[in-house]
Amino acid sequence: MLIMGLETSCDETGVALYDSEAGLIANVLHSQVELHARFGGVVPELASRDHIRKITPLTREALHRAGRTMADLDAIAYTIGPGLIGALLVGATFARSLAFGLKIPAVAVHHMEAHLLAPLISGSAPPLPFIALLVSGGHTQLVRVDAIGKYAVLGESLDDAAGEAFDKTAKMLELGYPGGPKLAQCAENGDPARFHFPRPMTDRPGLDFSFSGLKTYTRTTIAAHQPLSQQDTADIARAFEDAVVDTLLIKCRRAVQQTGVNDLVMAGGVSANLRLRARLDSDLDARVHYAPLDLCTDNGAMIAYAGWRRFELGDRAGLAITPRARWPISDLTSA
Ligand code: KG4
Ligand code: ZN
Repeated sequence: MLIMGLETSCDETGVALYDSEAGLIANVLHSQVELHARFGGVVPELASRDHIRKITPLTREALHRAGRTMADLDAIAYTIGPGLIGALLVGATFARSLAFGLKIPAVAVHHMEAHLLAPLISGSAPPLPFIALLVSGGHTQLVRVDAIGKYAVLGESLDDAAGEAFDKTAKMLELGYPGGPKLAQCAENGDPARFHFPRPMTDRPGLDFSFSGLKTYTRTTIAAHQPLSQQDTADIARAFEDAVVDTLLIKCRRAVQQTGVNDLVMAGGVSANLRLRARLDSDLDARVHYAPLDLCTDNGAMIAYAGWRRFELGDRAGLAITPRARWPISDLTSA
């Protein structure tokens, strides 16, 4: 079967086609980075308007690239939450209406479930149960996955998400937006021995995270070294990145020990961080799975794939279009 996936939950418009036999056959993306860059972060209303501009041409382009037409589609999947409500409305309305017009089923997809399943698109599926480390701009969670749709949250961030902490720290260091990749790039030239930043909440039991104290520590360090030289900026970026990576590693190790589960899937935008990948690969006593770099950040491919997995379970969206800004992954069921 051929399923189209549409993603518009934040600042990326993504459209992809997943064929249950051939796999991913088209994946097109428009990033709004330039649109939001001068504001230093995503402006929701601008995001919605840009999705409206891009969604029709991108849909045509995805079909064109795969050499398919609308008539070939068997189902359409779209992100229904969590995310920016206006941005979600654009994709959901477009996709649900298109499916209605084509008289084919629609599937409403949970954005974080789609991230979680993204490493399975091209890699081999780890055996169930597995642990998932979800690290994106809005979420930091450790989840035990017992089946698709059966998620137990083992721990999560009590304040900022890991990606959010990267973005805010990059802003403090005047590295621009989006912060995560910019900070990681800057950290390449940093001296790892110069500063040692705290590893928050690693000295007490449990699997929750907190990154706001680390942000404050970074702010204080920046203030104490004014004016920052290029080297100071790189050294601070490196210390921050090392602290986040180490914290995530320590909690993953604890989750593996606590559950006795030996496969860990890492997903979401921050899973594109090369230092994090390298540390988990070398220092975690478990098999680590992650998606190719372009499938870590937001994209239509993961929505098409999650939509297909959900379709297989019998999931179908009704005609009502009800996006959700907030939606805990633990509320999902196995359809
Ligand atoms: O999953 P995603 O694309 O969107 C959300 O669902 O939030 O994640 C975006 C987040 C941003 O905070 C971004 O700075 C971060 O992922 N990110 C990174 C890297 N690439 C993206 N953080 C650290 N290192 C990276 N290489
Ligand atoms: Zn995302």
